[in-house]
Amino acid sequence: MKRVLLLYGGRSSEHEVSCLSARSVLAAIDRDRYEVVPVGITRDGRWTLTDGVIQPRAGRALPEVADSGPTVALVGSKDGARLVQVDEDGETAKVVGRIDVAFPVLHGPWGEDGTVQGLLATVGVPYVGADVTASSIGIDKGAMKAAFAARGLPQGPYVSVHRRRWDTDPSLVAGTLEDQLPYPWFVKPARQGSSIGIGRVATRDELEAALVEAYGYDDVAIVEQGFASPRELEVGVLGNEDIEVTAPGEIRPSHEFYDFEAKYLDDSELVVPADIPAEVAERIDHLAREAYRAIGCTGMARVDFFLTADGDLLVNEINTIPGFTPNSMFPRLWDAEGVTYPQLVDRLLDFAQEPA
Ligand SMILES: Nc1ncnc2c1ncn2[C@@H]1O[C@H](COP(=O)(O)OP(=O)(O)O)[C@@H](O)[C@H]1O
Ligand SMILES: [Mg+2]
Repeated sequence: MKRVLLLYGGRSSEHEVSCLSARSVLAAIDRDRYEVVPVGITRDGRWTLTDGVIQPRAGRALPEVADSGPTVALVGSKDGARLVQVDEDGETAKVVGRIDVAFPVLHGPWGEDGTVQGLLATVGVPYVGADVTASSIGIDKGAMKAAFAARGLPQGPYVSVHRRRWDTDPSLVAGTLEDQLPYPWFVKPARQGSSIGIGRVATRDELEAALVEAYGYDDVAIVEQGFASPRELEVGVLGNEDIEVTAPGEIRPSHEFYDFEAKYLDDSELVVPADIPAEVAERIDHLAREAYRAIGCTGMARVDFFLTADGDLLVNEINTIPGFTPNSMFPRLWDAEGVTYPQLVDRLLDFAQEPA
């Protein structure tokens, strides 16, 4: 039996989404093959050993990691990593057990961005998903777009604006943006996810509030040309050397755009497979492989596209730890390919075993 360290929660504002994802992974993981050690990371970053029961507190819609379990940490050793539990006195520790592989089910900064991957690599634990470099490029919309551009992938026009530039001369920034991008704009924190911190800007008056919101999450904001109700098409990618890509699915957001509420609280419609011409599906397959290679991804990813009203197919983003909630596109896409949720988890854990 392999012992799997399941990491969830975490320090990012996608804490609750991670809990939802982890709850589904926990329910699906094959207990005949894997013994799961569930470790919840609190919002302030403490690793806690949990019983694996992930439920919302009374009166809350979404679950979170309780700050009550014992503190644990990973230590490397010659014959593999161990999880250790720090005793209540804070002075002594005891070994909980060996760890064979980790599955970070963490979204956003401090989990999907290479930080946790670096920790796991340092103590010698194989882990599910992209390595340190691919994770940190994938999380950063500026670095990601640059990597995509270097590979010649089609993307919408955008400008990165550092907080310092905005603070120094807001009207210069606004003017420069107006010279380069037609309204409306989408303003996003460079490193976030789940649509958190994203705003739509239709006039100059709305820019400041949108940037202040984005700068609440990152010092860099990405300002993109906004497209009018683009079709949102997504594929799942799996593999290390040899990769497989699902047929595209389509998101029909329940809101004006696919914001946080539309993702997790309201029922946005997922259409799997998407009703699109075969040529578009083929082109998406090709571009998804290119996007995966562009950031040097391994393990898995979800690659998201916009199909604009003008018929342009653009790469929007790559997610190296896509959502695994019951409403999530990634497991749905694989299910439509005949890969059930438990099989998907199994395959991901197998990819983690392969030597780099
Ligand atoms: N340039 C754009 N034009 C139109 N809609 C957009 C644009 N950028 C983002 N959106 C909308 O906002 C959502 C979230 O943006 P996205 O870049 O995917 O951020 P996140 O990483 O938080 O998922 C998209 O799914 C889409 O609905
Ligand atoms: Mg997105």
